[in-house]
Amino acid sequence: MSTGSVIAIDFLIAVLAAAGWLGGGAAAAARRRPVALALAAFAVLATVARAVTVTMLARAGWWFAAEKILIAAPLSLTAVVVAGWRLLKARGDIRSAAIALLFAGYADSSALLVTVLHGYPASAGAGLLAVAGVVAATAVSWRLLGPRPSRAVSRTTLAVAVVALVAGTGLAAAPSAAPGVPHQHEQGATPSVGEPTKQFTLTAATATVTVSGQRVAAWAFDGQVPGPELTATVGDVLEVTLRNKDIARGVTLHWHGYDVPNSQDGVPGITQDAVLPGQEFVYRFRADQAGTYWYHTHAVSDIGVKMGLYGVLVVRPAPASGVDRVIAAHTLSSVSLPEPVQEPVAAGTPVRLRLINTDSTTHRYALAGTSFQVAAIDGMDLSQPSTLTGTAISIPAGGRYDLVFTAPATPIALSVDNRVVYATGATAAATSGWPVLDPLSYGAFAAPPWTRYDKEFTLVLDRGLDLRGLLPRYAHTVNGAADPDIPPQVVHLGDTVKFTIVNRSLVVHPWHLHGHHVLVLSRNGKAATGSPLWLDSFDVRPGEVWEVTFKADNPGMWANHCHNLAHAEQGMLLHLMYA
Ligand code: C2O
Ligand code: CU
Repeated sequence: MSTGSVIAIDFLIAVLAAAGWLGGGAAAAARRRPVALALAAFAVLATVARAVTVTMLARAGWWFAAEKILIAAPLSLTAVVVAGWRLLKARGDIRSAAIALLFAGYADSSALLVTVLHGYPASAGAGLLAVAGVVAATAVSWRLLGPRPSRAVSRTTLAVAVVALVAGTGLAAAPSAAPGVPHQHEQGATPSVGEPTKQFTLTAATATVTVSGQRVAAWAFDGQVPGPELTATVGDVLEVTLRNKDIARGVTLHWHGYDVPNSQDGVPGITQDAVLPGQEFVYRFRADQAGTYWYHTHAVSDIGVKMGLYGVLVVRPAPASGVDRVIAAHTLSSVSLPEPVQEPVAAGTPVRLRLINTDSTTHRYALAGTSFQVAAIDGMDLSQPSTLTGTAISIPAGGRYDLVFTAPATPIALSVDNRVVYATGATAAATSGWPVLDPLSYGAFAAPPWTRYDKEFTLVLDRGLDLRGLLPRYAHTVNGAADPDIPPQVVHLGDTVKFTIVNRSLVVHPWHLHGHHVLVLSRNGKAATGSPLWLDSFDVRPGEVWEVTFKADNPGMWANHCHNLAHAEQGMLLHLMYA
């Protein structure tokens, strides 16, 4: 069973245990003896089952079980002991056990709340708040259900609740040690990369575009979605002038996966100011990396990219030969792009399909009618990719796969999520049952270029309450904090760096580091066995643990975030910074 499903099951059982105790308490208060006993027995069973799921999670990693072991387990045990002891003593009137059963329910519920609202890392603050909640709720129930507790008991209860609440709040809301991210504006200081050999101008504006026969409101570069395809040959110096006509919230160009100098990276507030209506910004960089990339706005990126401010960047080693097509999947106002294309291709022609996922969630691609190889992922060539047939491809948000094959005499068809988007003729192949390629075991293995790391960072991805702003918000968090409160990761030029990325949430987080490709070392403790995988976008699924490494060789301040852009806007973004 995957760790992701154990996380979900454990959560469900925790809800059932709490519900069992609370229901038992209510039944006892109503003097429904058999119901109360049955629900209490159920709660005990659920608690035992949780011991199993929590053990499984602990074996998958401390990250997945920390607050369950430190906070939930003691609370659940106390619940069983207190409620059990009271039940054993309640021979006559079951109502005398009601408070104890309710107490058990509050204990399990507050432990559950710690997981949902606070998550990892477990903290004394969260533990104390949980205790305060349990004590307060029990005290209220006691008053309502009588018999009146003695003065001494009431006073002690009140004191415990207040101390736990005050101490817990103090600890939970204490300012983090996160140093503010210094903004470095290098506007205008474009590095000298020589005279431009390729010049483009992109004008961002609100527009109405026609996609699949529908008129849709969009934000577009040069009035089209996707924006113009930018192509270059290795060695070109690109100069791209960005103009903003009327996008009120500003626009930038981020070269996704292209390891440009930091000043050209297009992250507003970090590498430049957002380009406001009437303004412009000139990007200039040398196209040294061949491959399939894309560009998109990084200003209110969640909305901007969704609305259409993105396009393709393809850098070829030499002018294209054969058929070389870009297929960028995107969802614009719930219309799926690209619109289907059919072109006849002569048998024997070399074909390269450059697949891009510009959405915030994973897409599944399937190429029917031919065998093929995955020549490159995220712009980086793979070593000795084997030939595949009947195998689907899963591309994370922001990711790219290049498929190559020689056109057969019969038609081929490429589909995205079972919708054919490119074909060389009419075909009908059922691809939905195909297995999905695991890139970690594809192609020829080579040992990582280094095995010692100067810096190691762990990123635990979760959901939780972020109390550090003015208003508490339910954020997507990294190590228990949300942007802008996540401490930056500080490295020195030349460092070898290792990231351990852990997803203890229930949703996929497509991870994306700017300015560097990372080499995948392992997933869930299993070393990668295929071609060296240098990625800039990879899906960390619920319960997964990825280890990746990179060389700190591109100085600056870099965004490091989830490429589900809504998650990034809701806190899942931090920075890699060179000291
Ligand atoms: Cu494609 Cu920071 O993003
Ligand atoms: Cu995410």
